Amino acid sequence: MNNFEFFNPTRIVFGEGQVKAINNLVPESARVLILYGGESARKHGTLDQVMTALGQRHVESFGGIEANPGYSTLMRAVELIREQRLDYLLAVGGGSVIDGTKFIAAAVDCEGDPWEEILVRGAENIRTALPFGTVLTLPATGSEMNTNSVITRYETHEKLAFSSPLVFPEFSILDPTKAYTLPARQLANGVVDAYTHIMEQYLTYPVGARVQDRFAEGLMQTLIEIGPSLLANPDNYELQSNFMWTATLALNGLIGAGVPQDWATHMIGHEITALHGLDHAQTLAIVLPSVMQEQRAVKHDKLLQYADSVWHIEEADEERRIDLAINKTRDFFEQMGVKTRLSDYQIDAEAIPLMVQQLGEHGLTQLGEHGDIDLDKSRKILEASL
Ligand code: NZQ
Ligand code: ZN
Repeated sequence: MNNFEFFNPTRIVFGEGQVKAINNLVPESARVLILYGGESARKHGTLDQVMTALGQRHVESFGGIEANPGYSTLMRAVELIREQRLDYLLAVGGGSVIDGTKFIAAAVDCEGDPWEEILVRGAENIRTALPFGTVLTLPATGSEMNTNSVITRYETHEKLAFSSPLVFPEFSILDPTKAYTLPARQLANGVVDAYTHIMEQYLTYPVGARVQDRFAEGLMQTLIEIGPSLLANPDNYELQSNFMWTATLALNGLIGAGVPQDWATHMIGHEITALHGLDHAQTLAIVLPSVMQEQRAVKHDKLLQYADSVWHIEEADEERRIDLAINKTRDFFEQMGVKTRLSDYQIDAEAIPLMVQQLGEHGLTQLGEHGDIDLDKSRKILEASL
């Protein structure tokens, strides 16, 4: 196992009815800004519950954060915070609202252009960030318990990520009943996103990290076990609670501690979203099977372990076993209703050069656990995804 440091200060408050705990978690004197997306948080009553829990505190709200949160929208919230001297943020939503809140928290005191400072030049430029909590309504990204944020600049078709320990949520409320209202597409997206997060911290090469491996395999098996039933029964508490906790554990740093990681699928996927507007998880369902295929030589040992431990494939020939494991992964995504080919989304070979060019412009030229996925390999991965 490699050396590592593990630190995660986010307090999780899990279970039905826990929104009321906000009253004990947000400072009494806070001047709060509630951030939310489109209509779901209001329509399903979560905003009202949050307002009630905040009681007599000074509260303002800011809605309209889009799926794949947009830089211009977020900068309007930054202005509101500066004008009204607000000092505590509360994100109510899925990954987009939480990621957007992280960016806002860091941008408020940023000197200069926050896009340049935070997303282009790098998060080490962040000196301070406003404190914030979250109420999760969509299990998927793990943003509720990590330091990552992905922001889109629609004007230039760019989607860039940053990560800083200053944007750990102080707390996250995980009430599984909040996910009952998710449409099938978002539930399926959540399962695929969480599954891919686990894969990208697992499917590299063995370093003898037995706990991380067993943990990752258990999380994947849980998603395989509950995914299809969840689509059919979104208001089943047992299924939703397992899903919500799995998605959080998939990207809170635990399974990634001390192991090599390969975020190529996510990085290539972000360019597809930036240029073609696909949902985040749709891009992962397209790219992951091709990464497995194109990198099967360097991932050989872990692919065999995955075939055995996650899918229990009994097949003597090793290469055949790997083929079956890749097919099972693709079939699982398709079974969840997420299509796995670029052509399923009307994207053809002509679109590939621009995606590869953007990867180059964003410096994403050495992806993968060995840094060996250069632009030529990314092009091959995209061609294999047609
Ligand atoms: O806008 P509203 O009306 O709220 O509707 C949302 C949105 O349209 C809806 N929704 C959320 N909760 C709901 C609900 N509808 C009904 N009932 C509920 N309870 O779902 C739609 C999608 O929401 P969004 O937040 O965009 O989805 P998700 O959580 O999948 O987040 C995706 C974003 O997170 C980034 C992605 O790149 C993408 O921008 N990621 C963030 C990561 C992180 N911070 O660690 C890691 C991920 O890999 C990912 O890159
Ligand atoms: Zn993701």
